Amino acid sequence: MNPIIAPSILSADFGKLNEDIEMINKSAADWIHCDVMDGRFVPNISFGFPVLKAVKKVAKKPLDVHLMILEPEKYIADFRNAGADILSVHIEASPHLHRTIQQIKEHGMMAGVAINPHTPVSQLEHVIAAIDLVCLMSVNPGFGGQKFIANTYIKIKQLKDLIVASNSKAKIEIDGGVDLRNAGALLAAGADVLVAGNTVFSAENPDQTISLLKNTVRNTIAV
Ligand code: DX5
Ligand code: ZN
Repeated sequence: MNPIIAPSILSADFGKLNEDIEMINKSAADWIHCDVMDGRFVPNISFGFPVLKAVKKVAKKPLDVHLMILEPEKYIADFRNAGADILSVHIEASPHLHRTIQQIKEHGMMAGVAINPHTPVSQLEHVIAAIDLVCLMSVNPGFGGQKFIANTYIKIKQLKDLIVASNSKAKIEIDGGVDLRNAGALLAAGADVLVAGNTVFSAENPDQTISLLKNTVRNTIAV
């Protein structure tokens, strides 16, 4: 099992964002997770197009853009132009989700759907075959550094069953509260992608922490 590791720049130092992106470029990370918040869908505002464009200029890894905004369908072309390679919208903010997914794909991006901790996995039943990624929120979206919600393990299992039953290629991404202690259990439960903000950027050595996440399974076996 070779997990995809996606450091979340929400916890980066925006005063030296280029350096933090360079660190990710040189690290074992696979994607760069970018959290866009509008202060309406979630109770926080993060960053938008100018910051994404600046990140894209320096980034050597795909931008995994997680939209925590209302009416995400209005901005699909703009996020593509800003550099998104993977675009996830929230199911709770998307009344015409199937159409939005098609539009994301038509714009040449991988299509993801994010679901909040309270949203049942079964709500993905009729779109799971059409998407590339499910962003399973393991905290309530809006802030970095929150405590992991343990019920996520049940949802990973349910989602895995749905993916297999639907012959879907969707990857399972875990977003929120991922750390070096729960990474192994999350991967064993069926996660494919681990997002990590606080764990990476509050570490003394972020680069090494990314490697530890990347090698979670190897390390677990070695112990
Ligand atoms: C939360 C965001 C997450 C956040 C994760 O709303 O979607 O991507 O950056 O941060 P940590 O890893 O610190 O929980
Ligand atoms: Zn996120």
